[in-house]
Amino acid sequence: IVRALTLLEAGQCVALPTETVYGLAADATNELALEKIFTAKGRPKNHPLIVHLASAKQLEQWACDIPNAAYKLAKAFWPGPLTLLLKKAPDVNNVVTGGLTTIGLRVPSHPLFLNVLEQFGKGLAAPSANRYKQLSPTSAEQVINGLNGRIDAVLEGGICEHGLESTIIDLVSETPRVLRAGPITTKQLEQVLGFPVATPESHIEVVPGNVKAHYQPNTPVKMMTEKEILALVDCEEVPNMHVIMHSQALSQTLTCSLKLAQLTLLPNNAKEYGKALYGTLYRIDKLGTQLIVVQLPPTKEEWRAVNDRLSRAAC
Ligand code: TXA
Ligand code: MG
Repeated sequence: IVRALTLLEAGQCVALPTETVYGLAADATNELALEKIFTAKGRPKNHPLIVHLASAKQLEQWACDIPNAAYKLAKAFWPGPLTLLLKKAPDVNNVVTGGLTTIGLRVPSHPLFLNVLEQFGKGLAAPSANRYKQLSPTSAEQVINGLNGRIDAVLEGGICEHGLESTIIDLVSETPRVLRAGPITTKQLEQVLGFPVATPESHIEVVPGNVKAHYQPNTPVKMMTEKEILALVDCEEVPNMHVIMHSQALSQTLTCSLKLAQLTLLPNNAKEYGKALYGTLYRIDKLGTQLIVVQLPPTKEEWRAVNDRLSRAAC
């Protein structure tokens, strides 16, 4: 932590663990430090960064015209995996918002990140700690695999609790809407706010950075129903593939046609599945198969974030 603080104060980038995914952090008030984030990730300059704060008390330093809904949500979900999109305060550096008039803010709950934020005193900009468009890292090993030589350090904080990026809610548009599905569901948001929150059924590209093809492993990913998977392994030339599924019955059936090393059974539970997803894709990516087939997950509300990331991985 001391080393991370020293590097951050010197305007360097340090990967830090959050409860969602690892973030690549830099001083959100230092333009040169922010530019290093874009360079290390190979990320276009107009893609806005989320600023991480030690507490909701710092909201007014970064945002203005803050609606009551923001305070309600902060009270209910911070520290935690929710990013609030608000109107940015006038003196916030344009580099951090990619030139937009809005800013994404959140208080993360990982104790190490919080500790760094409390001692640092200022906001830390932190996108996911991966090269542009690749999988977000859920372990320090994955950070190093993607960014070794391009960043100054990574703080080891174990496997991320949620494994999927934070829910983003836009509180600037006339009616609040979810821009990115995540660990906090729309229903949870509505329960706190007491009114409906719009959730676009399909992907919307409202800002640069929220692109459809995203979160991709190097191996092509295909989503299939159980029936389609069974038909595929039944054909004469079965491709060199790996199947990720959540159905135990399917897994048992497939052991007749595929090797165990080609099968990954994930928990049939949205939270546990989400936690394991990126790590699983990362591991399979290293096996050198030609195709990753993923059994279509359930479509219930709690599976929304998983379905969103998989649809982008399979783009
Ligand atoms: O869980 C998370 O949110 C992780 C951890 C590290 O906190 N961070 C993360 O950051 O996922 P990143 O940069 O990989 O994704 C942030 C996305 C951007 O791509 C963009 O779509 C949206 O958040 N975003 C950020 N600021 C925005 C703004 N001002 N307006 C609209 N969207 C914004
Ligand atoms: Mg990202």
